[in-house]
Amino acid sequence: MDVVRETNLGIGKLRRGKVRDCYQLDGHILLVATDRISAFDVVMPNGIPNKGKVLSRLSKFWFDKTSHIVDNHVVTTEVEEIIERIPELADKEKLLRGRTTLGRLAQPIAVECVVRGYLAGSAWTEYREKGTVAEVEMPEGMLRSQKFDTLLFTPATKAESGHDENISIGRMKAMIGRGLAEQMIEASLKLYNFASDYAATRGMLIADTKFEFGLLDGKLILIDEILTPDSSRFWLGENYKPGEDQQGFDKQPLRNWLQKLTDQGKWDKNPPGPELPEDVITYMSNLYKSVYKLLTGEDIA
Ligand SMILES: Nc1ncnc2c1ncn2[C@@H]1O[C@H](COP(=O)(O)OP(=O)(O)OP(=O)(O)O)[C@@H](O)[C@H]1O
Ligand SMILES: [Mg+2]
Repeated sequence: MDVVRETNLGIGKLRRGKVRDCYQLDGHILLVATDRISAFDVVMPNGIPNKGKVLSRLSKFWFDKTSHIVDNHVVTTEVEEIIERIPELADKEKLLRGRTTLGRLAQPIAVECVVRGYLAGSAWTEYREKGTVAEVEMPEGMLRSQKFDTLLFTPATKAESGHDENISIGRMKAMIGRGLAEQMIEASLKLYNFASDYAATRGMLIADTKFEFGLLDGKLILIDEILTPDSSRFWLGENYKPGEDQQGFDKQPLRNWLQKLTDQGKWDKNPPGPELPEDVITYMSNLYKSVYKLLTGEDIA
């Protein structure tokens, strides 16, 4: 099994995100989804087999399905076409296949658009402590994982530390302008509704998800990845039980394993991350593969 942790394509300007290697070209961006995995904002030393392919192909799957709602950055994910456009990549076909997106280079908007359908994750933690979600008062007595009566839109910015920081919708409007903010909110809610209707036909719930937008020639487009297990919390409908923590398809099992190490004083949540044991790697790989199969009906590899 080939695991890709890092690429060096020798083209354009390289910027490594936590997961994607991004090559900035003239007017385009080549995004290579590696098999890197991060938790607590630290990239782990091991790759997760098939993870990059799941993220890349699942994003493409959703971009195709949602382009009637909002335009997206995808030019192509076909490696042959990518090589035709960038001949320097001719000998990288095997490396790039299934994990690469050629996108239109946009100006990323520094506000992440989080849509929440269910009370989970950091929203649950905040609610339990303060009765609020993203500082907005919520009804009393809500259960863990309970469905919200109306969708919540909880924007966030990337703070200096790289950690996400919730901001209010008012702050979002002040930062990027009211018109643009309203467009992003409307598009995000429509995307969530469309995707959760589709997911329901596959027996899945989308507890929450995050979108990133960019501007291209003054127009709003979707960029990065969408509706993947890294950006979303997927639950199995048949196992859904309000009042309990749901076993999802996200990085929680990895976080739990890491938290145990931290509790034992063996890791302080600073880089470098600890070497992951084989069973954790296999478990996570299977999780990514199974969510792809559940949502698309197809095998990843
Ligand atoms: N079409 C696009 N135009 C410009 N930038 C893009 C586009 N698509 C994605 N990006 C940027 O590429 C990066 C993707 O890499 P990745 O998701 O691994 O980074 P990250 O770790 O989430 O983010 P960061 O490193 O910025 O904190 C993000 O910074 C994203 O904003
Ligand atoms: Mg990202």
